[in-house]
Amino acid sequence: MYNILLIGNGAREHVIAETVKRSRHEINLFSCMKSNNPGIASLSEKVMLGSYSNLEDICGFAKENNIDFAIIGPEDPLNNGVVDALLKEHIPSVGPTKSCARLETSKMFTRDLLDKYNIPGNARFRVFSALDGIPEFIAELDGIVLKPDGLTGGKGVMVQGDHFRTREEAMDKCCDILEEHESVIVEEKFDGEEFSLQCLCDGTTVVATPPVQDHKRRFVEDKGPNTGGMGSYSMEDHLLPFMTEKDVVAGLEITQKVADAIRKETGEEYKGIMYGGFIITKDGVKLLEYNARFGDPEAMNTLPLLKTDFVDVCRAIIEGKLSGLTIECEKKATVCKYIVPKGYGLPKDHPDAKSTSARIAVDSVEDVNLYYSSVDKRDDGLYMTTSRAIGVVGIADNLEDAEKKAEQAIASIQGPVDHRPDIGTKKLIKKRIEHMEKIRG
Ligand SMILES: Nc1ncnc2c1ncn2[C@@H]1O[C@H](COP(=O)(O)OP(=O)(O)O)[C@@H](O)[C@H]1O
Ligand SMILES: [Mg+2]
Repeated sequence: MYNILLIGNGAREHVIAETVKRSRHEINLFSCMKSNNPGIASLSEKVMLGSYSNLEDICGFAKENNIDFAIIGPEDPLNNGVVDALLKEHIPSVGPTKSCARLETSKMFTRDLLDKYNIPGNARFRVFSALDGIPEFIAELDGIVLKPDGLTGGKGVMVQGDHFRTREEAMDKCCDILEEHESVIVEEKFDGEEFSLQCLCDGTTVVATPPVQDHKRRFVEDKGPNTGGMGSYSMEDHLLPFMTEKDVVAGLEITQKVADAIRKETGEEYKGIMYGGFIITKDGVKLLEYNARFGDPEAMNTLPLLKTDFVDVCRAIIEGKLSGLTIECEKKATVCKYIVPKGYGLPKDHPDAKSTSARIAVDSVEDVNLYYSSVDKRDDGLYMTTSRAIGVVGIADNLEDAEKKAEQAIASIQGPVDHRPDIGTKKLIKKRIEHMEKIRG
């Protein structure tokens, strides 16, 4: 029997909770959430509601309930040092220490690490804490990307062509970033197709799970503002339609080298998820960033496919025994589409922007996996609360059927909701393939 603490309150943690509960071991799940997720709560013995920065309460809750190990879902508690605090109480975690989590929390740390250890896939970059020298450096770049150092909830990166056009405008953006952040990373802009590779790491061994493609833009055809992610898909052959086996291997090799480098650099073993955001360019696979946790939505694509007992996987990560475990995922395609309030991601003065909190009915939804995110269960039903509400995941032998399943389920959801009907469709996939063909030449 295991007492497991899960930290986090989103759809990613809902699918983690479900995957933990599928274990053949007897599991008591204890959850620490900053707001109540009814899906996670229904799978938990006990729930603690509180801030992810209140480490004393989290450790108290863990000790009270004789927790064997913790699983950390989101980046904020990692950044707050929850893993280090739990370790002091002799409670191990699936999730890196604060120092190792810099892989996500400091994009400067990661770019420097790749540089120092000669790891392939890095961008041309420089870090600036003042404007001096930036004009000279951006004059050398064909395309520019600006990144604040530190966590920005996925809303800090500025890409030429999307957020600014000219070099002069880039300077203005650098000014803005440096007003709020210690430093700005100026890097070359890549052109290509992106994929997420969520790898498991026990400090030494790195194992990849099937690659996934996420869709950040709010509206169909990748229009509108960036969001936390509107949905994602994965394929039955564990590749993506625009990629080759070589590309996955390249992403895995970079991640393996990063795991080794981080051990040398920090003297600590990285235990948890190393999720690389990669882009396939004409010069091969390049690294955009790492996250120190599963992706949201990507966790909803991969965890339901996991055939290996997830609790065994967690224990192997903690005990450094991943090399002795065969990790298998079902050869199925998955399509995840987020149900969001109609007003999600719209500017505040937009007429639809107000319709973010409303009741929805999901009772007649069939043949898909549903994961709750920002929803509130009240006596009279389920309410959305401003952000992404529910992840709907269709799983089938091929992408077309998986997409159909997701759409059919979404059609039966009632309320002022929206989603991206194009995710996982032939038309959008064709666009991705053509883009990649053009780049590869
Ligand atoms: N060097 C780059 N070249 C091209 N696009 C980039 C580059 N870096 C980031 N991007 C784009 O910006 C998005 C967000 O950047 P990322 O580094 O993933 O930061 P975050 O997820 O923290 O916002 C990426 O998904 C990608 O679309
Ligand atoms: Mg990213």
